[in-house]
Formats: sequence, C-alpha cells, structure tokens
Amino acid sequence: MQRFWDERYLEEGVYGFEPNPFWVKTLESIQPTPDAGSLLLPCEGEGRNAVWAAKRGWTVDAFDGSSVAVATCNRWAASGGVEVNAHQADAFEFAGRPDGYDIVGLFYAHMPPARRAEFHRRAIDWLRPGGTLILEGFEPRQLGLPSGGPKDINMLFSPEMLASDFASLNIATNTTVETNLNEGPYHQGPAHIIQFIAQKPA
Ligand SMILES: C[S@@+](CC[C@H](N)C(=O)[O-])C[C@H]1O[C@@H](n2cnc3c(N)ncnc32)[C@H](O)[C@@H]1O
Repeated sequence: MQRFWDERYLEEGVYGFEPNPFWVKTLESIQPTPDAGSLLLPCEGEGRNAVWAAKRGWTVDAFDGSSVAVATCNRWAASGGVEVNAHQADAFEFAGRPDGYDIVGLFYAHMPPARRAEFHRRAIDWLRPGGTLILEGFEPRQLGLPSGGPKDINMLFSPEMLASDFASLNIATNTTVETNLNEGPYHQGPAHIIQFIAQKPA
C-alpha cells in the first residue's frame, strides 16, 4: 500500500495545493492560544491542511505513511515560512504528544474495514480532554463516482458508523453532504462526503 501512495505522490498537488474548505471553515472559528494551540493531522499527505494551520499560529504535528508525501509537506512548509512537525509514520504506530492535541483532523483517512474502529480509537486517544475531532471523508453513495475515494464500500463512512466509533465523544456535526470537489486531480467533481465534528469530554 505504501508503494501505491509513494507513486501517487510523485506528482505534486494530488489533492490540491489549497486547504480543505471544511477544515478552513471549522478552524477559522477557533483561535489557537498558548494553552490550547496544538493540532495533529494523521494521514496528512502533502500537508495542504497542515501548512495552512501553521500559518494561522497552530503548533502542527502531521504524519503520513508515504515518505514522498512527507518530503513534499516539509517543502511546502519551508516555502510557506512555517514549521510543521511532519513524520513518516504508520497510523497504527504513531504515538504523538503524551498530553494529547487540542485538535485532530482526519481528512480522507479511510482504513481497511478490519482496522477502521481501531484507527478511530487511536484518534480519540490523540485528543486531549476537551479536544476537538474534525473529520471529512467519503460516504457510501460515493461508490462508482470518479471523484475519488476507496472502491470498497466497507471503507466508506456512514453517519451511523461514525456515531458508533466516536460514541465516547460529544458529537456536534455528523452530516452527509452532496458537493462538488475541487481538490486537485484525484478529488474532482460531484461527490458524496460526510463531515463530522465532535469533542472529547473534558
Ligand atoms: C486520500 S489521501 C488523503 C491525504 C490528506 N489527508 C488530504 O486530505 O490531502 C490518504 C492518505 O492516507 C495515508 N495513509 C493511508 N494509510 C495509512 C497508514 N496506515 N498510516 C499512515 N498513513 C496512511 C496515505 O499515504 C495518504 O496520504
């Protein structure tokens, strides 16, 4: 799988050069402070969301399994004049800050069905008490559309699945959206996505 992603990222900007619009809209309503300013972007790819958040003053950790994507993330951060702590790591091994993060952003991080719930439990563990999870991904109606996402329906997210995986969080948003993606060559055109925001109890 790693080879698949490394080859994909030989081309730059595969999910666009701009941050995801839901990430921007959600994070614009939250100001980083010295006490609450850390965020983690697991499976972050080339760093489109990480670099944007770092420019807004967040202390940003990001990781991805693809070393090619991580190298791009480091380049984009340097050319943007910001620091992103980008790691090449596997989602099932990355430890992160021991005290957790104020924000965890999962964008199109679709895992194999047998490991999805475990991955989502890790995302909960990466949050500090009171921290916020922001997620966007594809939902089952995406299957068959050419605008991106896994071709296995069991890897797609339904509201019921996310409600169950994140039942220990206070869920604020868990909504399917029909949209028109414009995120580089691999997320392009009419799409069915799900947007999710939830807070870990303090
Ligand atoms: C569809 S891309 C999304 C990239 C980025 N989040 C974005 O929205 O631009 C999925 C990413 O997940 C990463 N990934 C998949 N499985 C992973 C794993 N087990 N550990 C780390 N990264 C993984 C891939 O390398 C790829 O960069």
